Amino acid sequence: MVLIQIPQRWQLPEHQVTSETAFFNRRRFLKTLVGAGIAGSALPLIGCQAQTATDSPTVGTRPLPFSTNPLFTQIADRDLTNELVAATYNNFYEFGGTKGIWRNAQALPTEDWQVEVTGLVNNPRTFDLDDLTKSFPLEERIYRFRCVEAWAMVVPWLGFPMNALLQAVDPKSNAKFVRFTSFFDREITKGPTFPPSQFLPFPYTESLRIDEMANDLAFFAVGVYGHTLPKQHGAPIRAVIPWKYGFKGAKSIVKIELVDTQPATFWNTLSPGEYKFESNVDPAVPHPRWSQAKERLIGANAEFEWQEVPTLKYNGYGEFVASLYS
Ligand code: MTE
Repeated sequence: MVLIQIPQRWQLPEHQVTSETAFFNRRRFLKTLVGAGIAGSALPLIGCQAQTATDSPTVGTRPLPFSTNPLFTQIADRDLTNELVAATYNNFYEFGGTKGIWRNAQALPTEDWQVEVTGLVNNPRTFDLDDLTKSFPLEERIYRFRCVEAWAMVVPWLGFPMNALLQAVDPKSNAKFVRFTSFFDREITKGPTFPPSQFLPFPYTESLRIDEMANDLAFFAVGVYGHTLPKQHGAPIRAVIPWKYGFKGAKSIVKIELVDTQPATFWNTLSPGEYKFESNVDPAVPHPRWSQAKERLIGANAEFEWQEVPTLKYNGYGEFVASLYS
């Protein structure tokens, strides 16, 4: 997921090595460009300026009713990340390749949203937003959030466990994986300036094994910080899988499909060696271009302050999920 970045003041030195070569398998990409007759221009650097808090009117608007899940009310030794910082430092490549895509993301049309749940299920359903927020009791869960790029946040999501949706649609016994598909419309989700969107495997898709989806931690968020999701966070519904790197959590989901074989996914298609299908947070497994031993935890301060802390295996959720991988 690291497109090409200009390192920020808060980035660790090891991250700086990603500057020029940081996009996916560059050779393969250049080959594609050669094939398309547009190679020859060097890949430009794409800046990733975070916006300052005062820039952002775009936090969620409508408050949502919820109860607090007592298991996830706080994270020991970690403050909640500042809401405006979280809302202005995002990855959403459909709207651009920088961290400051929140303005572009306001083009996402969330009215009359529908989510189709289909594939190997006994009760296929199409939910509108009202169904989704009323069929499943909403709870708040404060989760650690860890991007594969080695930055981390602490985020209070509002939503419901994926398992509640699974029960509602009744998976068939041969359903082994779930594929999430994000909203995509070439006229609206124009992608990064470079590389051009047509060279990227949009729509964005992600996937889990069914037993991962059924784990109590796997979550659909429809809100954050007490209200509906702002568009840049993946309104109106996104996946949050806190023991995996953040790219596994597809935003602005339109389709949830149960399938019998492991589906292709966006990042894994681009660079399978860098973005593995499983992608559990693990300090002992470096990304090919940087260490994952530490992370830059972005804290409560609106000034975008961060501290370097050790990465935790399964992002600290081993007691809930380690048995999935034994
Ligand atoms: N979902 C879609 N559809 N498109 C994306 O580019 N980026 C992923 C994930 N989900 C992405 C996506 C990555 S790399 C991360 S780290 C998280 O969203 C970022 O979530 P946030 O911007 O809400 O913090």
